[in-house]
Amino acid sequence: MRRSLVVGNWKMNGTLASAEALAKGIMAGLGSDHADIAVCSPYVHIPALSQLLKNSKLALGAQNVADKSSGAFTGEVSAAMLNEFGCKYAIVGHSERRTYYGDTNESVAARFCQAQAQNIIPILCVGETLDQREKDETFAVIDEQMDAVVAAAGIAAFNTAVIAYEPVWAIGTGKTATDEQAQEVHKYIRGYIAAKDRSVAEKIRILYGGSAKPENAKGLFAMPDIDGGLIGGASLDADSFLKIYHSI
Ligand code: PGA
Repeated sequence: MRRSLVVGNWKMNGTLASAEALAKGIMAGLGSDHADIAVCSPYVHIPALSQLLKNSKLALGAQNVADKSSGAFTGEVSAAMLNEFGCKYAIVGHSERRTYYGDTNESVAARFCQAQAQNIIPILCVGETLDQREKDETFAVIDEQMDAVVAAAGIAAFNTAVIAYEPVWAIGTGKTATDEQAQEVHKYIRGYIAAKDRSVAEKIRILYGGSAKPENAKGLFAMPDIDGGLIGGASLDADSFLKIYHSI
């Protein structure tokens, strides 16, 4: 039985004060320990949040991680630096990184490996654009995104990783994939892994992301291959995020 996971992706939002208030609001409403929960904050808020979240069930994550371990890479933050502040997770390959900052399948695979080398669980984002979906290329795109990471890290690496299926056309658009559309791709991803290693496929948590909110979370989470969510906009409000968490 896979333990569900809900992750907030705060993106480039908030101030230190608002981030701390949001984290406190979430911690106050966690209640029963029925699933894992984490927030991925902007880098600069990580040191303060790591203090605040100490001994809490709310785990901390980063929104990205460098594809190299150290050196002359201006503006980058290494996995070792994140580890020092207690980051449990790091998102890699978010579509906004791929679209606006040139992250490639290969650099995403390198980030995935860097995170794991520092015992940080990578949350690997995969997903197709609307154009790719309309051309029936969804599964081919997922294959390419997965192939690059499997080639770099090996299939066993997915024992300590999380995958987030995020259809690009659903991110921040208010257009959520239907329960069936999401399940179809989640099942495909699990099948992709099962073809290489059945036990890894049974274990891996595959989250849905893309305009998930309190109103649609329950239906999505009821699908057999959806193990939780990666939540953007709705994670910036403690009540909405908690409602999503409690709908698992
Ligand atoms: P959204 O973002 O929930 O605002 O669509 C999800 C994500 O980008 O991780």
